Amino acid sequence: MISDAMRTRLNEQINHELYSAYLYLSLSAHSERANLKGTAAWFMAKHSEEMTHALKMYRYLLDQDADVTLATVHAPPVSPDGVLAMFEDTLAHERSVTAGINDLVDHALSEKDHATNIFLQWFVTEQIEEEATVNDIIGRLKLFGDQGQGLLMIDNELGAAAKTMAPAAAAPAA
Ligand code: FEO
Repeated sequence: MISDAMRTRLNEQINHELYSAYLYLSLSAHSERANLKGTAAWFMAKHSEEMTHALKMYRYLLDQDADVTLATVHAPPVSPDGVLAMFEDTLAHERSVTAGINDLVDHALSEKDHATNIFLQWFVTEQIEEEATVNDIIGRLKLFGDQGQGLLMIDNELGAAAKTMAPAAAAPAA
């Protein structure tokens, strides 16, 4: 059993996770249109991961005998040109998600809602890993370049990395 306030906040976070999935789906399509199949596969895998995050919260609400209330998912912005810009936008977005998760933890602690606090710890850890991964990609793009041979190498790396991430049903053949 969780409070109405906690339920509302978790439902809002489901919406943020679904928006994340939508954002990465858009970036995947944009990458594939730019012939960056590895990058497209990586963003498609991120899309699948974000769907998993939304569904973890969905499952938690139902297991806590709470209503799931789905709301409108906003359209993502037009994707920027350039791989570096796409990953910088990704990092900014993930930092905003981290802030949202931290707010949820703060709220759970303020209510002494131990179950939700424990549930959220998985997301706290996940966000550390997600930010670090994107930071690493940005670092490599800055080091090797986001054009020509450097970009080709990183696109291939992203394609290989995508295969180790969550299954992406609609990923292009990399
Ligand atoms: Fe579900 Fe990348 O945050």
